[in-house]
Amino acid sequence: MSALTSRSSALLRTCARQRLAPIAATSMAAQRRGKADQATSSFDSPFRGETSSTKIPSFASYKSSKGETSNKVFQYFMVGTMGMLTGVGAKATVQDFLVNMSASADVLAQAKVELDLSAIPEGKNVIIKWRGKPVFIRHRTADEIKEAEDAKWESFRDPQPDSARAKKPEWLVMLGVCTHLGCVPIGEAGDFGGWFCPCHGSHYDISGRVRKGPAPLNLEIPEYDFPSETSIVIG
Ligand code: FES
Repeated sequence: MSALTSRSSALLRTCARQRLAPIAATSMAAQRRGKADQATSSFDSPFRGETSSTKIPSFASYKSSKGETSNKVFQYFMVGTMGMLTGVGAKATVQDFLVNMSASADVLAQAKVELDLSAIPEGKNVIIKWRGKPVFIRHRTADEIKEAEDAKWESFRDPQPDSARAKKPEWLVMLGVCTHLGCVPIGEAGDFGGWFCPCHGSHYDISGRVRKGPAPLNLEIPEYDFPSETSIVIG
C-alpha cells in the first residue's frame, strides 16, 4: 500500500513539473522581452524614479516672443474678423430663406393688375382676369349712373347705395362671380339692364346689386384704385 502511495506521489510530481515547465519558459521570455524593450524604448514614463505622478509639460517653446499689446491686437483682430464673417454668413442665410419664402415674380404680377381706362368707351364692359377670377369693368353712361343712384336700394335683398359700390360713378368694378354658386353672369342682360346669371336665373342691376333670383348677395367689389385719371389698378 505504501509502495502504491509513493508511486502515485512521484507520478503527480512528474506531471506538475511537465506542466510548469512551459509556463516558466513563457514567463522568462516575457521578462527578457521587457528588458530588451526597456533598453530600446524612447518612452519617458512619468512614474519612473519620480515621487509624484504629476508631470507638468513645458510650454516655453510656444510662448510668444512679442509683447502683450501686440498679442492682444492680434487676438482682437481675429475675434473681430471671425465675428464679422459669422454675421455676414448669418445675414446671407436669413436673406436667402426670406427670398425663398416670399412670393415669386409671376405671383406678384398676378396680385395687381393695371389697366388703361382710356381704351374703354362709354357704355361698354371689359372683362379681365385677376387672381384667376373674372373682373367686370363697366364705363357707365350718365343715364346708367342716374338709374343706379335713384334705385330704392333700402328694400333690396342686399341693401347698398350705388355710392358705396363705385369710387367714381362712371366706373363700376366688380368680381364677375355670381354670389349664388359661382357662375359668371352675362353683361347687358337680365330684367334690370345689368347682369344676368343663366345658371339659376339671378338678375343684377346696373350697380351689380342682386334684384331677382336665388343669389343672396350683390356682386363683390374688389380692392382697386385710380393712380391717374386714365388708369386703374386692381388688387
Ligand atoms: S350660380 Fe348664378 S344663379 Fe346660381
